[in-house]
Amino acid sequence: MEKKIEKQIGLNRNINLFSSNLNKNFQIDNDFIAELLNLKIQNKGISRESLRKTRNIVLETLYGINQYINVQQKDMIELEEIYKVTFDKLSTVNVSEVMIDHYQRLSTWLSRFYPNHFINQLREQETIGSVLNEEYSADFQIYILDLVVANLDEPIIDIGCGKTGNLPCKLKEMGKDAVGIDRIIEEEKDYLIEKNWFDFYFENEKWGTIISNMSFVNHLLYTYENDNLNLEKYLIKFKEILDALKPCGRFIYTPSIPFLENYLDGKKYRISRDLIINGISRTLIERTT
Ligand SMILES: C[S@@+](CC[C@H](N)C(=O)[O-])C[C@H]1O[C@@H](n2cnc3c(N)ncnc32)[C@H](O)[C@@H]1O
Repeated sequence: MEKKIEKQIGLNRNINLFSSNLNKNFQIDNDFIAELLNLKIQNKGISRESLRKTRNIVLETLYGINQYINVQQKDMIELEEIYKVTFDKLSTVNVSEVMIDHYQRLSTWLSRFYPNHFINQLREQETIGSVLNEEYSADFQIYILDLVVANLDEPIIDIGCGKTGNLPCKLKEMGKDAVGIDRIIEEEKDYLIEKNWFDFYFENEKWGTIISNMSFVNHLLYTYENDNLNLEKYLIKFKEILDALKPCGRFIYTPSIPFLENYLDGKKYRISRDLIINGISRTLIERTT
């Protein structure tokens, strides 16, 4: 079933949900409808797990278009509900009508993440592009972040570790006490936590090493440059993360953010930056006491 859902969502991946022509553009995969009918005949609804996977497929698609939108737990629950209603109805009522209603509800749901003037600018555009939101191999991250794994203090947390958690997975294989968090985790494992970083509490003085490659700090930088309304939230979280370092613990991340790092208390933190490539640097913050 999940493969069929993935295919169905993929068919309409480029639709601009804010387009004024929204109702005309969607495509429907007949195999997917047949599968839903099949479930209905067997008196089964869509399972919780299928809904969770559906929600993650939709979120991945959205993050592929704009990685900086911040979807929280309550939004995810609403998103799952939209799909549950649609899947239930699709097996009983006129398919086109259900899909029109579905896209309108999705559009309303999505509009909370964008200012009105931005939505209005998009009205005339029927399709949408995408941005790069890459995940890197563990070895590449170890190289970029200049990690000497044997010397990393534990426990280790990787913030925004990617849906497959490449780095924490490798660190575990190398015998380290490591976990990763990300807003989307492909396959649940005890050391991979599916959570928005704003919903995760970084406990005071808990972590020996905190890592974040092109994720939390990259979003903080984006917010600093483009979205001042949300900046305070990021700054508060950044402070919480620093406070979560054990004495002598280290926070290692890309990209560097000198505009903020330069304000940190020099007695409490030792900071070093190294250029990696094309204006992107990595930062190492060591708590001194
Ligand atoms: C460019 S990827 C980098 C992934 C990984 N660190 C790597 O280097 O391969 C950024 C990651 O941050 C995650 N992310 C973005 N916003 C997030 C949020 N609010 N909470 C948790 N994870 C988030 C994305 O899902 C994505 O996996």
